[in-house]
Amino acid sequence: MACCAAADDFFSTTHAKRDLSWYRRFGPLPTARKILHALGEVQDRTFIDVGAGIGAVTHGVLLLDAKHVTVVDASHAYLQTLLEEARRQGYTERINTYHGDFAEIAPALPKADVITMDRVVCCYGNVTGLLNQACTRATWRICLSFPRRAWWSQAAIWSFNLIQRVRQHAFRVYYHAPEYIDQCLVDNGFVPVKSDKSILWSVRLYERR
Ligand SMILES: C[S@@+](CC[C@H](N)C(=O)[O-])C[C@H]1O[C@@H](n2cnc3c(N)ncnc32)[C@H](O)[C@@H]1O
Repeated sequence: MACCAAADDFFSTTHAKRDLSWYRRFGPLPTARKILHALGEVQDRTFIDVGAGIGAVTHGVLLLDAKHVTVVDASHAYLQTLLEEARRQGYTERINTYHGDFAEIAPALPKADVITMDRVVCCYGNVTGLLNQACTRATWRICLSFPRRAWWSQAAIWSFNLIQRVRQHAFRVYYHAPEYIDQCLVDNGFVPVKSDKSILWSVRLYERR
């Protein structure tokens, strides 16, 4: 099964409804909060939110007067749920959604000031392809969250994949070394300008040199 078909199957309506109900009760998860905090002022900026899920970052930047968000996700269920929440919050006219693998469809997308990827690179094997495409579409900044360098986050990934194998589900998660992620961005003309951490996740903001 191709990577994004597996993600589409895994990130199902059940997942999406559960995430939306959490978001409505408690707000964005810590990585989305850290991304919004790192971004700071976003008024009139354009965004591409890759792997947006139910849209915690998308809704967050629209609330802060971002001009437009292009949402790309491999999961139909997440896209539908994101739109349902955008309708409730009244932002649909400032969102476009695309279903698919960002690494494949990126060349057809409009460029944006900022690209965000919250907990997405760990869902994708070809991190180089994903990040190279992000660098071609982002004119100003890229903000990412990904599993931090720590034995426990690698152990969590290993355990998750073991359970997936036992369940015979094709979706897998990946650990990509933070140094490798940095190098991909630097090779494409971006420099790290802010970084933050939680127990499991690193959040980094990069800016075009
Ligand atoms: C772990 S979820 C994170 C969702 C949301 N950003 C959050 O942090 O709650 C990963 C999301 O990335 C999407 N995804 C994974 N690989 C992708 C790709 N290559 N192109 C577009 N979306 C992708 C999945 O469908 C899923 O919605």
